[in-house]
Amino acid sequence: MRLILLGAPGAGKGTQAVNISQKLNIPHISTGDIFRANIKEGTELGRKAKEFIDQGLLVPDDLTISIVKDRLNKADCEKGFLLDGFPRTIPQAQQFDVALKGMGVELNAVVNLDVPDDVIVKRMAGRRVCKGCGMTYHISSNPPKSEGTCDSCGEQLIIRDDDKEQTVLERLKTYHEKTEPLIDYYEEKGLLLHFDGTKDIMETTSEIIERLLKE
Ligand code: AP5
Ligand code: MG
Ligand code: ZN
Repeated sequence: MRLILLGAPGAGKGTQAVNISQKLNIPHISTGDIFRANIKEGTELGRKAKEFIDQGLLVPDDLTISIVKDRLNKADCEKGFLLDGFPRTIPQAQQFDVALKGMGVELNAVVNLDVPDDVIVKRMAGRRVCKGCGMTYHISSNPPKSEGTCDSCGEQLIIRDDDKEQTVLERLKTYHEKTEPLIDYYEEKGLLLHFDGTKDIMETTSEIIERLLKE
């Protein structure tokens, strides 16, 4: 299956993507994770991306599109993929359509997670991420088994640099301006599926999987 996960920052894209990609056995591709890995490794791409990410702005389209195209060319994407955080602008979506055509494939669905801004601001304050593998937790709604430590790799949990409240508010503003129009874009193509992202994590996963398998 070839899928896109849409939603505001903190809507739960990364959390749902881990569950969905496991259940459907397709790779989870997060542009945010790719940028953060590059920042950690100190690459040229990471250096460029960090300037924008730290301000709550989007990384320029050309840079972002080229990393996604490279990733989709890897062999594991032949069985499908789940994109988390891409596309995020209308030009990205248009260029992605061209790329899909070139690959001779079509999207199956676009999953949209709806969460109001005030819920997001509260959620982000409690998010913790693993320094090692990037796994995401929440201090109250999705805590690790042992405080401050990743269940999956044992590394330390930290607060993401862009989770400061001021940056979260900037990211929300960017989302409403640049990314929210994609809801109509994919609705018009008949691909959009809406989900309430304020429900329990596992309940939302079950609803999404059930719906996708019906498509
Ligand atoms: P990215 O890493 O994609 O950040 P984002 O879209 O802002 O989304 P987040 O990762 O913050 O949230 P999420 O929806 O994954 O939520 P999560 O599952 O963690 O991008 C970072 C930056 O990179 C961007 O700002 C931009 O600069 C750049 N970038 C990336 N892609 C780009 C692109 N295509 N073009 C240009 N620039 C790009 O959940 C959040 C918290 O809530 C967690 O603590 C979680 O445990 C908790 N939670 C999740 N679900 C629930 C639930 N149902 N109930 C209660 N708590 C929940
Ligand atoms: Mg994420
Ligand atoms: Zn980990």
